[in-house]
Amino acid sequence: MAKINPHFNEIAQGYFSAEIAKRAKPFIDSHPGVELIKLGIGNTTEPLVPAAIEGLRKGVEKLGKPETYTGYGDEQGDERLRKAIAEWYGARGMDVEPGAVFVSDGAKTDCANISSIFSDDSVVAISDPVYPVYRDSNIIEGRKVVYMQGLEENGFIPELPREKADIIFLCSPNNPTGAVATKEQLKAFVDHAREHNAVIIFDAAYSEYIRDPGLPKSIYEVDGAKTCAIEIQSFSKSAGFTGVRLGWTVVPKELQAEGASPGTLNQFWNRRQTTMFNGASNIAQEGGLAILSPEGQKQTHEQIDYYMKNASIIKEGLEGAGLKVFGGVHAPYIWLKCPAGFSSWEFFDELLTKAHVITTPGVTFGKNGEGYLRLSAFGHRENIEKAVRSIRENFGTEMFKHA
Ligand code: MLT
Repeated sequence: MAKINPHFNEIAQGYFSAEIAKRAKPFIDSHPGVELIKLGIGNTTEPLVPAAIEGLRKGVEKLGKPETYTGYGDEQGDERLRKAIAEWYGARGMDVEPGAVFVSDGAKTDCANISSIFSDDSVVAISDPVYPVYRDSNIIEGRKVVYMQGLEENGFIPELPREKADIIFLCSPNNPTGAVATKEQLKAFVDHAREHNAVIIFDAAYSEYIRDPGLPKSIYEVDGAKTCAIEIQSFSKSAGFTGVRLGWTVVPKELQAEGASPGTLNQFWNRRQTTMFNGASNIAQEGGLAILSPEGQKQTHEQIDYYMKNASIIKEGLEGAGLKVFGGVHAPYIWLKCPAGFSSWEFFDELLTKAHVITTPGVTFGKNGEGYLRLSAFGHRENIEKAVRSIRENFGTEMFKHA
């Protein structure tokens, strides 16, 4: 008889978005006329910029003509796009070769699948709180997971692993806390990884939200990182491709691992992708190329400014109401400390039932997230303003003064 994968019993029953929907349902069903403002899932809301639409249209039109039609493409990604990605790094002073770039259908799948190129008995270090994909995917595959504490005291930047870890997941700017690591902090991880022969999986999906040019947007800004770090990027949050699906992963040929000659991990990821993935959509890749053009970059950065204005409206609005908040300066997430006495889910319920705002309970990101909520700055401006107004009207400063 077939046996189930028992590790599914070690993770929460539902992904956090499903848990939120389940928790909100009774209120929604019993209040059919109430309009809820969704600041829960980090889902983009603004239309694609004209350059992206133009690129996608070109991709569609190419498919309609015999001379430009393409079927399966290069599983590693359209060479033109891989070259453009390498140049994008080059313009930022980093040397990434197209052969190290693997175009994907988004960061989430790569974050979940990348550990497959490492041994099953690898110990995986992740921060707490954390984007649940790193944790759940490794638990499902039966790997041992150890936690690096990301607490208010250390500005939510995780400490270095306390025990031996072979794979270290990092995310900066961070989902969920909005914290961003300095170059020195990233260097400490790179030094640690090199010293302990570990590999860092660096999720840079929110890099374009960094406002301060002095803060690193890529792990490869740190010398030596190419020998010990894989970087995962996405067009989802930087260009609104959450539904289109496109991202990339850099697996440098210099990457080192026990018993592996140079290029082995790059070759393994290539083998994995050519076997289990047929490449990203050719239409989406034309869109990606257009986004990386100078005009595409200008337009998408203006859109990011829009979301960051939302973030500052939420941050300042909540601070004005007496709440303590973190993040929201270099990331589209605001990490709100619940007022004293409220757990994450209790304050989620308060905001849902009184202010009609949906948030994400911090505890869904790990035990250190208990007592916090994450608010997403993705949303139409009027909804963001409405949400902040509603929270302020429904919860006076009085209530929050001990937050
Ligand atoms: C989020 O953190 O809300 C996400 O980016 C959506 C997801 O991938 O779960």
